[in-house]
Amino acid sequence: MPLVTTTEMFKKAYDGGYAIGAFNVNNMEIVQGIVEAAAELKSPIVLQASSGARKYAHPSYLVKLVEAAIQDHPELPIALHLDHGADFEICKACVDNGFTSVMIDASGMPFDENVEVTKKVVEYAHAHGVVVEAELGTLAGVEDDVKVSAENSSYTNPDDVEEFVGRTGVDSLAIAIGTSHGAYKFKPGTKPQLRFDILDEVVRRLPNFPIVLHGSSSVPQEYVKIINENGGALKDAIGVPEEMLRQAAKSAVCKINIDSDLRLGFTAGIRKTFTEHPEYFDPREYLKVARQNVKDIVAHKITAVLGSDGKM
Ligand code: G3H
Ligand code: 13P
Ligand code: ZN
Repeated sequence: MPLVTTTEMFKKAYDGGYAIGAFNVNNMEIVQGIVEAAAELKSPIVLQASSGARKYAHPSYLVKLVEAAIQDHPELPIALHLDHGADFEICKACVDNGFTSVMIDASGMPFDENVEVTKKVVEYAHAHGVVVEAELGTLAGVEDDVKVSAENSSYTNPDDVEEFVGRTGVDSLAIAIGTSHGAYKFKPGTKPQLRFDILDEVVRRLPNFPIVLHGSSSVPQEYVKIINENGGALKDAIGVPEEMLRQAAKSAVCKINIDSDLRLGFTAGIRKTFTEHPEYFDPREYLKVARQNVKDIVAHKITAVLGSDGKM
Protein backbone atom coordinates (compact mmCIF):
# COMPACT_ATOMS: atom_id res chain seq x y z
CA MET A 1 0.00 0.00 0.00
CA PRO A 2 1.42 3.44 -0.81
CA LEU A 3 1.47 6.13 1.89
CA VAL A 4 -2.05 7.20 2.84
CA THR A 5 -3.47 10.49 4.12
CA THR A 6 -5.06 10.61 7.56
CA THR A 7 -8.60 11.19 6.25
CA GLU A 8 -9.86 7.63 6.48
CA MET A 9 -7.79 6.83 9.59
CA PHE A 10 -9.35 9.77 11.44
CA LYS A 11 -12.89 9.01 10.30
CA LYS A 12 -12.63 5.43 11.57
CA ALA A 13 -10.92 6.57 14.77
CA TYR A 14 -13.61 9.18 15.43
CA ASP A 15 -16.42 6.73 14.86
CA GLY A 16 -14.67 3.92 16.73
CA GLY A 17 -13.67 5.93 19.83
CA TYR A 18 -9.94 5.41 19.55
CA ALA A 19 -6.95 7.50 18.41
CA ILE A 20 -4.08 7.10 15.99
CA GLY A 21 -0.56 7.36 17.41
CA ALA A 22 1.64 9.94 15.73
CA PHE A 23 5.23 9.09 16.52
CA ASN A 24 8.24 11.26 15.71
CA VAL A 25 10.95 9.71 13.59
CA ASN A 26 14.59 10.76 13.42
CA ASN A 27 16.56 7.69 12.35
CA MET A 28 16.28 4.14 11.03
CA GLU A 29 15.98 2.38 14.40
CA ILE A 30 13.09 4.59 15.50
CA VAL A 31 11.23 4.02 12.22
CA GLN A 32 11.78 0.26 12.52
CA GLY A 33 10.73 0.06 16.18
CA ILE A 34 7.48 1.96 15.56
CA VAL A 35 6.56 0.15 12.37
CA GLU A 36 7.30 -3.33 13.72
CA ALA A 37 5.00 -2.73 16.69
CA ALA A 38 2.24 -1.26 14.50
CA ALA A 39 2.46 -4.11 11.99
CA GLU A 40 2.31 -6.81 14.68
CA LEU A 41 -0.70 -5.13 16.28
CA LYS A 42 -2.39 -4.27 12.97
CA SER A 43 -2.59 -0.59 13.88
CA PRO A 44 -2.64 2.29 11.39
CA ILE A 45 0.08 4.79 12.19
CA VAL A 46 1.32 8.33 11.57
CA LEU A 47 5.08 8.76 11.22
CA GLN A 48 5.95 12.40 11.69
CA ALA A 49 9.10 14.39 11.04
CA SER A 50 9.80 17.75 12.66
CA SER A 51 11.98 20.34 10.97
CA GLY A 52 14.68 19.31 13.46
CA ALA A 53 14.39 15.73 12.23
CA ARG A 54 14.63 16.92 8.63
CA LYS A 55 17.75 18.91 9.48
CA TYR A 56 19.29 15.96 11.34
CA ALA A 57 18.56 13.15 8.91
CA HIS A 58 18.10 15.09 5.67
CA PRO A 59 14.57 15.06 4.21
CA SER A 60 15.31 12.53 1.49
CA TYR A 61 16.73 9.99 3.99
CA LEU A 62 13.59 10.23 6.11
CA VAL A 63 11.31 9.72 3.12
CA LYS A 64 13.39 6.74 1.95
CA LEU A 65 13.32 5.17 5.43
CA VAL A 66 9.54 5.43 5.43
CA GLU A 67 9.38 4.03 1.91
CA ALA A 68 11.46 1.08 3.11
CA ALA A 69 9.00 0.55 5.98
CA ILE A 70 6.13 0.45 3.49
CA GLN A 71 7.99 -2.05 1.35
CA ASP A 72 8.51 -4.24 4.42
CA HIS A 73 4.89 -3.90 5.60
CA PRO A 74 2.75 -3.30 2.50
CA GLU A 75 -0.44 -4.04 4.42
CA LEU A 76 0.11 -1.28 7.00
CA PRO A 77 -1.63 2.12 6.53
CA ILE A 78 1.08 4.72 7.16
CA ALA A 79 0.75 8.50 6.83
CA LEU A 80 3.91 10.60 6.59
CA HIS A 81 3.35 13.91 8.34
CA LEU A 82 5.31 17.14 8.79
CA ASP A 83 5.26 18.03 12.49
CA HIS A 84 5.19 21.76 13.39
CA GLY A 85 5.80 23.26 9.95
CA ALA A 86 6.78 26.85 10.70
CA ASP A 87 5.82 28.47 7.40
CA PHE A 88 4.35 27.93 3.94
CA GLU A 89 7.74 27.09 2.39
CA ILE A 90 8.50 24.09 4.60
CA CYS A 91 4.95 22.78 4.15
CA LYS A 92 5.27 23.15 0.37
CA ALA A 93 8.65 21.38 0.40
CA CYS A 94 7.13 18.43 2.25
CA VAL A 95 4.09 18.27 -0.04
CA ASP A 96 6.47 18.27 -3.01
CA ASN A 97 8.63 15.65 -1.27
CA GLY A 98 5.92 13.00 -0.90
CA PHE A 99 4.48 13.70 2.58
CA THR A 100 0.76 12.92 2.77
CA SER A 101 0.00 15.29 5.64
CA VAL A 102 1.50 18.55 6.89
CA MET A 103 1.07 20.67 9.97
CA ILE A 104 1.27 24.41 9.63
CA ASP A 105 1.97 25.70 13.11
CA ALA A 106 1.24 29.41 13.14
CA SER A 107 -0.24 29.18 16.63
CA GLY A 108 2.20 31.81 17.91
CA MET A 109 0.83 34.38 15.43
CA PRO A 110 -2.22 36.60 15.85
CA PHE A 111 -5.48 34.87 14.83
CA ASP A 112 -5.86 36.54 11.41
CA GLU A 113 -2.27 35.78 10.43
CA ASN A 114 -2.68 32.17 11.55
CA VAL A 115 -5.81 31.99 9.35
CA GLU A 116 -4.01 33.54 6.40
CA VAL A 117 -0.97 31.26 6.34
CA THR A 118 -3.01 28.15 7.18
CA LYS A 119 -5.40 28.89 4.31
CA LYS A 120 -2.47 29.28 1.91
CA VAL A 121 -1.04 25.91 3.01
CA VAL A 122 -4.46 24.26 2.73
CA GLU A 123 -4.92 25.52 -0.84
CA TYR A 124 -1.54 24.20 -1.94
CA ALA A 125 -1.75 20.91 -0.04
CA HIS A 126 -5.30 20.08 -1.10
CA ALA A 127 -4.42 20.75 -4.73
CA HIS A 128 -1.82 17.99 -4.30
CA GLY A 129 -3.97 15.51 -2.37
CA VAL A 130 -2.31 16.27 0.97
CA VAL A 131 -4.17 16.98 4.23
CA VAL A 132 -3.39 19.76 6.71
CA GLU A 133 -3.32 20.07 10.50
CA ALA A 134 -3.19 23.51 12.15
CA GLU A 135 -3.07 24.72 15.74
CA LEU A 136 -5.00 27.16 17.90
CA GLY A 137 -3.68 27.95 21.36
CA THR A 138 -0.04 27.58 22.40
CA LEU A 139 1.54 24.64 24.19
CA ALA A 140 4.30 25.19 26.71
CA GLY A 141 7.56 23.25 26.48
CA VAL A 142 10.50 22.80 24.17
CA GLU A 143 10.33 21.80 20.54
CA ASP A 144 13.28 22.26 18.23
CA ASP A 145 14.91 25.58 19.08
CA VAL A 146 11.64 27.10 20.26
CA LYS A 147 10.97 27.22 23.99
CA VAL A 148 7.55 28.38 25.14
CA SER A 149 7.36 29.20 28.84
CA ALA A 150 4.29 28.27 30.89
CA GLU A 151 3.42 32.01 31.14
CA ASN A 152 3.47 32.40 27.36
CA SER A 153 1.39 29.31 26.70
CA SER A 154 -2.36 29.67 26.31
CA TYR A 155 -5.34 27.35 26.20
CA THR A 156 -7.34 27.17 22.99
CA ASN A 157 -10.34 29.49 23.07
CA PRO A 158 -13.37 27.45 21.94
CA ASP A 159 -14.98 30.66 20.64
CA ASP A 160 -12.34 30.73 17.88
CA VAL A 161 -12.51 27.22 16.49
CA GLU A 162 -15.53 27.36 14.14
CA GLU A 163 -14.36 30.54 12.48
CA PHE A 164 -10.82 29.18 12.15
CA VAL A 165 -11.86 25.90 10.58
CA GLY A 166 -14.46 27.60 8.38
CA ARG A 167 -12.06 30.22 7.04
CA THR A 168 -9.07 27.91 6.52
CA GLY A 169 -10.61 24.62 5.35
CA VAL A 170 -8.11 22.76 7.52
CA ASP A 171 -8.57 18.98 7.97
CA SER A 172 -7.72 18.62 11.68
CA LEU A 173 -7.01 20.95 14.57
CA ALA A 174 -4.44 20.72 17.36
CA ILE A 175 -5.67 22.32 20.57
CA ALA A 176 -3.98 23.34 23.80
CA ILE A 177 -5.67 21.88 26.90
CA GLY A 178 -2.70 21.61 29.25
CA THR A 179 -0.35 19.14 27.59
CA SER A 180 3.14 20.43 26.75
CA HIS A 181 6.19 19.32 24.81
CA GLY A 182 9.15 17.57 26.40
CA ALA A 183 9.73 15.50 29.55
CA TYR A 184 8.86 18.15 32.17
CA LYS A 185 5.15 18.74 31.79
CA PHE A 186 3.94 19.27 35.34
CA LYS A 187 5.56 20.64 38.47
CA PRO A 188 6.54 18.00 41.05
CA GLY A 189 4.00 17.78 43.86
CA THR A 190 1.17 19.18 41.73
CA LYS A 191 -1.65 17.10 40.28
CA PRO A 192 -1.44 16.82 36.45
CA GLN A 193 -4.57 18.32 34.97
CA LEU A 194 -5.97 18.64 31.45
CA ARG A 195 -8.84 20.98 30.54
CA PHE A 196 -11.36 18.42 29.30
CA ASP A 197 -14.00 21.13 29.60
CA ILE A 198 -12.26 23.01 26.76
CA LEU A 199 -12.06 19.83 24.69
CA ASP A 200 -15.79 19.19 25.24
CA GLU A 201 -16.67 22.72 24.21
CA VAL A 202 -14.49 22.47 21.07
CA VAL A 203 -16.24 19.22 20.15
CA ARG A 204 -19.65 20.83 20.67
CA ARG A 205 -18.65 23.62 18.26
CA LEU A 206 -16.99 21.29 15.75
CA PRO A 207 -19.01 18.08 15.59
CA ASN A 208 -17.38 15.20 13.70
CA PHE A 209 -14.12 17.08 13.34
CA PRO A 210 -10.78 15.40 14.20
CA ILE A 211 -8.87 16.97 17.07
CA VAL A 212 -5.13 16.50 17.69
CA LEU A 213 -3.26 16.44 20.99
CA HIS A 214 0.41 17.38 21.00
CA GLY A 215 2.73 16.95 23.96
CA SER A 216 1.18 13.62 24.92
CA SER A 217 4.11 11.66 26.28
CA SER A 218 3.56 10.04 29.64
CA VAL A 219 7.28 10.00 30.61
CA PRO A 220 7.38 6.37 31.83
CA GLN A 221 9.17 6.39 35.16
CA GLU A 222 10.76 2.98 34.57
CA TYR A 223 12.79 4.47 31.71
CA VAL A 224 13.60 7.66 33.63
CA LYS A 225 14.90 5.43 36.44
CA ILE A 226 17.08 3.38 34.07
CA ILE A 227 18.52 6.57 32.59
CA ASN A 228 19.26 8.06 36.01
CA GLU A 229 20.74 4.80 37.35
CA ASN A 230 23.09 4.70 34.41
CA GLY A 231 24.65 8.13 34.48
CA GLY A 232 21.70 10.28 33.38
CA ALA A 233 20.31 13.32 35.17
CA LEU A 234 16.60 13.75 34.50
CA LYS A 235 15.20 15.38 37.59
CA ASP A 236 11.44 15.71 38.08
CA ALA A 237 10.52 14.46 34.60
CA ILE A 238 6.71 14.13 34.65
CA GLY A 239 4.30 13.32 31.82
CA VAL A 240 0.58 13.13 31.07
CA PRO A 241 -1.09 10.28 32.99
CA GLU A 242 -2.12 7.50 30.62
CA GLU A 243 -5.73 7.40 31.84
CA MET A 244 -6.16 11.02 30.69
CA LEU A 245 -4.91 10.12 27.23
CA ARG A 246 -7.21 7.09 27.14
CA GLN A 247 -10.10 9.39 27.97
CA ALA A 248 -9.05 11.78 25.18
CA ALA A 249 -8.65 8.91 22.69
CA LYS A 250 -12.26 7.88 23.27
CA SER A 251 -13.45 11.38 22.35
CA ALA A 252 -12.94 13.47 19.19
CA VAL A 253 -9.17 13.32 19.66
CA CYS A 254 -8.07 11.25 16.66
CA LYS A 255 -4.30 11.88 16.69
CA ILE A 256 -2.05 11.75 19.75
CA ASN A 257 1.55 12.95 19.35
CA ILE A 258 4.34 11.09 21.12
CA ASP A 259 8.02 11.84 20.82
CA SER A 260 9.64 12.28 24.25
CA ASP A 261 8.69 8.77 25.43
CA LEU A 262 10.52 7.27 22.45
CA ARG A 263 13.55 9.41 23.24
CA LEU A 264 13.50 8.19 26.83
CA GLY A 265 13.23 4.54 25.80
CA PHE A 266 15.96 4.93 23.21
CA THR A 267 18.33 6.65 25.66
CA ALA A 268 17.58 4.18 28.46
CA GLY A 269 18.46 1.29 26.14
CA ILE A 270 21.79 2.79 25.19
CA ARG A 271 22.77 3.91 28.70
CA LYS A 272 21.94 0.52 30.24
CA THR A 273 23.85 -1.36 27.57
CA PHE A 274 26.89 0.85 28.06
CA THR A 275 26.84 0.19 31.81
CA GLU A 276 26.36 -3.55 31.43
CA HIS A 277 28.80 -3.94 28.55
CA PRO A 278 31.60 -1.41 28.74
CA GLU A 279 33.44 -3.59 26.25
CA TYR A 280 30.91 -2.93 23.45
CA PHE A 281 31.85 -0.59 20.66
CA ASP A 282 29.67 -1.92 17.85
CA PRO A 283 26.74 0.54 17.48
CA ARG A 284 24.47 -2.36 16.50
CA GLU A 285 24.84 -3.85 19.98
CA TYR A 286 23.31 -0.87 21.75
CA LEU A 287 21.06 0.44 18.96
CA LYS A 288 19.20 -2.85 18.82
CA VAL A 289 18.36 -2.49 22.51
CA ALA A 290 17.22 1.10 21.88
CA ARG A 291 15.10 -0.06 18.92
CA GLN A 292 13.49 -2.82 21.00
CA ASN A 293 12.56 -0.25 23.67
CA VAL A 294 10.92 1.95 21.00
CA LYS A 295 8.98 -1.08 19.79
CA ASP A 296 7.86 -2.00 23.34
CA ILE A 297 6.75 1.56 24.08
CA VAL A 298 4.78 1.88 20.82
CA ALA A 299 3.11 -1.51 21.41
CA HIS A 300 2.09 -0.37 24.88
CA LYS A 301 0.69 2.93 23.55
CA ILE A 302 -1.31 1.19 20.84
CA THR A 303 -2.90 -1.38 23.12
CA ALA A 304 -3.16 0.40 26.48
CA VAL A 305 -3.61 4.06 25.53
CA LEU A 306 -4.75 4.61 21.93
CA GLY A 307 -6.90 1.52 21.33
CA SER A 308 -5.87 1.41 17.65
CA ASP A 309 -4.84 -2.28 17.62
CA GLY A 310 -6.67 -4.41 15.08
CA LYS A 311 -8.07 -1.31 13.31
CA MET A 312 -6.22 -1.80 10.03
O1 G3H B 1 6.79 18.69 18.99
C1 G3H B 1 8.00 18.51 19.02
C2 G3H B 1 8.60 17.18 18.79
O2 G3H B 1 8.89 16.57 20.01
C3 G3H B 1 9.77 17.30 17.89
O3 G3H B 1 10.91 17.69 18.55
O4 G3H B 1 11.71 19.50 17.06
O5 G3H B 1 13.27 18.40 18.70
O6 G3H B 1 12.46 17.17 16.66
P1 G3H B 1 12.18 18.23 17.69
P1 13P C 1 5.96 14.95 23.59
O1 13P C 1 7.13 15.84 23.83
O2 13P C 1 5.03 14.93 24.74
O3 13P C 1 6.33 13.58 23.16
O4 13P C 1 5.12 15.61 22.36
C1 13P C 1 5.48 15.36 21.03
C2 13P C 1 4.76 16.22 20.08
O5 13P C 1 3.78 16.88 20.39
C3 13P C 1 5.26 16.25 18.70
O6 13P C 1 4.58 17.17 17.92
ZN1 ZN D 1 3.96 18.94 18.95
